[in-house]
Order: sequence, then structure tokens, then C-alpha cells
Amino acid sequence: MTQTCVQLSYKREADGVLSGLGMDKVHRPVLLREAVHWLGCAPGKRIADVTVGLGGHAEAIVEASAPDGVLIGVDRDEDALAVARARLDPSRARLYRAEARELPHILDREGLPRVDGVLFDLGVSSLQLETPERGFAFQIDGPLDMRMDRRQDLTAAHLVNERSEHELAHILRAYGEERWAVAIAKAIVRARAARPLVKTRELVDVVRSAIPARARPVHPHPATRTFQALRIAVNREIEDLDASLEAALSCLTRGGRLVVITFHSLEDRIVKSVMRRWEGGCVCPPGLPICRCGRQRVARVLTSRPLTPAPVEVADNARSRSAKMRVAERVADTG
Ligand SMILES: C[S@@+](CC[C@H](N)C(=O)[O-])C[C@H]1O[C@@H](n2cnc3c(N)ncnc32)[C@H](O)[C@@H]1O
Repeated sequence: MTQTCVQLSYKREADGVLSGLGMDKVHRPVLLREAVHWLGCAPGKRIADVTVGLGGHAEAIVEASAPDGVLIGVDRDEDALAVARARLDPSRARLYRAEARELPHILDREGLPRVDGVLFDLGVSSLQLETPERGFAFQIDGPLDMRMDRRQDLTAAHLVNERSEHELAHILRAYGEERWAVAIAKAIVRARAARPLVKTRELVDVVRSAIPARARPVHPHPATRTFQALRIAVNREIEDLDASLEAALSCLTRGGRLVVITFHSLEDRIVKSVMRRWEGGCVCPPGLPICRCGRQRVARVLTSRPLTPAPVEVADNARSRSAKMRVAERVADTG
């Protein structure tokens, strides 16, 4: 089979898988053209997509680096990888169930010293959100789960039923920026004293009851921030980000690009400060005759302000409205 035939047959299989899941209508990769452009996709390039999800960005990357570019796809969610696997030609895309921060070990296994680009598209996929048994969504009833990697023990039910009121309030405030964090944490502790909260609908009811009617927003739904905060805590989305970005940088060739798409201000702040740290280089006090800190500039930030989707993309895909993209280019070895 020729390269084009192989790609077409994968495309047909992918269309079948995606429409079976209803994903063709709901999951649209955000800032797609921008990601492909800033990654510098071209024939022969090696690109890692460490949040490969359903393979939307990956498919475009594979296409833009045809005929001989290679994609390394990583995701911690086996269900998402199954969709990506059906969608991407295995002769050009190698997929791993792993954490983003494990990229250096994956490249070792592949015998690839470095890659030319790394993409992070953070947050949840539509597949995760739309599957009731995954427990990510407050709109549909399901178990209080929210794990991206279902091999891990910690679920949202563990957090809700076992963490102290103080810890719960902290999670809701830090990761959800929920102004009713204390009231919601109190209501959760009160409700679980009668019996453990196990379903998403039960948690939605508790959250609603904790927010005074006059302050309850119609939009966004009053449980939005609580669910977001619990999801971030269950999946260590904030705690692991710095280490994952460092791991990605260490895998880049000189001139290689790191492209990061975030959907949450806390994540964007971390990405911004990590990139600044890379760009900053020496942190010795001014006036020292020689550098003692040994830190050198390892990357150049290519986006002085984050890139955001054009109004037409936001109109077409509401999920894109909070997206921000930052790009850095490696300039030196990190040692
Ligand atoms: C927004 S989705 C990616 C969608 C993908 N770009 C597409 O076009 O189909 C984010 C994905 O990243 C995965 N993920 C999030 N954090 C991760 C991490 N630290 N390591 C590996 N996968 C991660 C999630 O499981 C999810 O499938």
C-alpha cells in the first residue's frame, strides 16, 4: 500500500471510531493550525505529543511531517489512546500509556536521542467529559471518579469522603478559585457524615445547597468550579506540571520547540514562570565578578504574550475560549 492509501485507510477507520463515540461532533483540537505551525512540523521532523488524547493534534502533526516524520504520542488514559491508535498510522506514530514527565525514558526506549518539538494540550478530553462512568461531568450522573489514569487508586470519591474540611476548602480555593470553598467543604463534611458521597449527582446537590440561592450562578453551573478543582487534585495536574515541562525541555534538540496549550489560569501562570526561568539564565547578584550560580539561559520564549484562539474558533468551539498557548525554543543544553 502506498503512504497515501495507508493514511486514507486510517482516516476511514478513525472516522468510524470517532463517529461511534460521537466524538467527531464534540472534540475539536484547539489552536490546531497554530500548534502545527509553532512546532515547526515539516518532513522528517520528530515531534512528541505528550497529551495525545484522541489524536486530533497528532493527526495534523503526522500529516504536516509526512512522508517520514515520526510522532511519539503519550497519554495516561488508555481509552483515549485506543481512539488515537485507531486514528494514527503506526508506521509514523508510536503511542505510549505513560505520564508526560516520562518522555525521556520513552525516547530512550525508542532509541531517539532528542525530538524537534513537544506539544502539551492540557486539560480534559471530550471523551473523558462525555463518558458518564468516568465521573468528570456534573451534568451527567456517574461515579465520583475523575481519574485520567484508571490504574491509580485515588479517586474524587476518596478526596470528598476522606479529606478534612480544611483540606477540601484548600483544594476548592486553590484549584477552582471557588469563593464558596469553605461553605462547600463544610456541606460536604456534613453530608458524608450521614453516608459517603459516591455519585456526581449527590455532590452537585451538596454544592448547590451550600451556595446561597441569591449568589448561585446560572452560568457557569454552580458545581463547575468544584468539579474542576477535584479533577485537578485527583490527577495532580498542577503539582506535576513543572517537572513535566522540565522533562520535555531536556528532550528537545537545540532549536526544538515546546508548545503548551492551557485552559486554566493557574496552569498558564506555571508555564509562564517556568519559561521565564529558562530564559533568565544567571541569577547571581549584580556586581559578582564571576557567575557562581552556574545557571545559563536554556530557552528563548517566542510568545511574549500567550496566543489565544481567533474569534471564529471561539464561535465554532466554545471549549477553546479559555485556551492560551505559549511557545519556547531550546537554545542550550540543560546539562
Ligand atoms: C485536552 S486532551 C488532549 C486532546 C488532544 N490534543 C486531541 O486533539 O485529541 C488532554 C489529554 O491529556 C492527558 N493528560 C493530561 N495530563 C497528562 C499527563 N501529565 N501525562 C499524560 N497524559 C496527560 C489526558 O488524559 C487527556 O487525554
